[in-house]
Amino acid sequence: MRPKEKHQARKMRVTVLTYLEKEGAAEHDIVVDQVCAALRAHGHKPKILGVHNDINLLVEGIRTHRPHLVFNLVEQWGKNVRGDVAVAGTLELLGMRHTGGGPGELFLRQDKALTKELLAYHGVPFPNYAVFRRDSFPDTGVRLRMPLIIKPLRMDASIGIDSSSVARSTTQMMKRVIAIHEKVKDSALVEEYIEGREFYVGVMGNRKPIALPPIEMDFSALPKHMPKILGRRAKWVPSSREYKGTRSKLADVNDVLKQRLQTVAVEAYRALRVRDYGRVDLRVTPEGEIYVIEVNASCYLEDSAEFATAAKAAGLSYTDLINAIARLAMARSRRPF
Ligand SMILES: Nc1ncnc2c1ncn2[C@@H]1O[C@H](COP(=O)(O)OP(=O)(O)O)[C@@H](O)[C@H]1O
Ligand SMILES: [Mg+2]
Repeated sequence: MRPKEKHQARKMRVTVLTYLEKEGAAEHDIVVDQVCAALRAHGHKPKILGVHNDINLLVEGIRTHRPHLVFNLVEQWGKNVRGDVAVAGTLELLGMRHTGGGPGELFLRQDKALTKELLAYHGVPFPNYAVFRRDSFPDTGVRLRMPLIIKPLRMDASIGIDSSSVARSTTQMMKRVIAIHEKVKDSALVEEYIEGREFYVGVMGNRKPIALPPIEMDFSALPKHMPKILGRRAKWVPSSREYKGTRSKLADVNDVLKQRLQTVAVEAYRALRVRDYGRVDLRVTPEGEIYVIEVNASCYLEDSAEFATAAKAAGLSYTDLINAIARLAMARSRRPF
């Protein structure tokens, strides 16, 4: 048996680490049970550790479990949606191998302007943008063309994004910038709005990342007057017109476009130092220009969400996908940087 095979055959204790809405809450995200079932199917011993914002519970939980690997599904800490950085840092201080980015990698992709600076260095295309910070003048030398979309600089989950996020005049833009400063309490990122199709490309791997088949967001059932964007309601409010009018599906694209989307996605994934798995969101104009909208390191792994759907289209069952991620994390953390 070669060392690699020996390692793969090992049955591991895995702590599946997840965020809870309240300390001690009985409920957790459905993805947690799915990940546990997948790990169990390969003979591993998963144990759930749910945390809200008590650092002692996190440390004690890890010390008691003594896992070989932490499957890290935490996206926030208490009310802090940027807490994933500190959680990954804590796991590193505890000397734990864990799936997904370390604190440095997670920090890079959380700030959408920093993300663009890295993409620029690597020649990966993204929409022109300007940042309006709360306490200073806009840092821009570029002239932006209308329409624009205004988003929080460091949020996720489409927080602060809805139909009025798309602006067709400077007045509309400034209203939105102020709303983000005052309501979301974040800097505002103003981007050129890219009219066109929206795709999500899952990427897996470390030394040689591979791209999964593209998924497309279908906006065709949205009422005509609504901008074709995936705002907060489209993601989180099942009764809304935005939610009902949007649906993701395996993309029907020719091989040339598929290949181009996958190439750009892998370049973006590498540029942002994503580890193990992630999802790159892109838009393509009617003229065929591709733009990276966002890089989601450690994207949502729910069985019916975009990433797992794409993996299945590539012939990877959910069980195999989750175990492949665990193996990638183990293999990576045994190598020196
Ligand atoms: N520059 C852009 N052009 C067109 N649509 C955009 C642009 N930026 C964001 N969107 C729309 O808004 C959605 C959410 O934006 P995104 O930057 O991915 O924020 P989040 O991190 O909250 O998911 C995207 O899925 C897309 O539909
Ligand atoms: Mg997004």
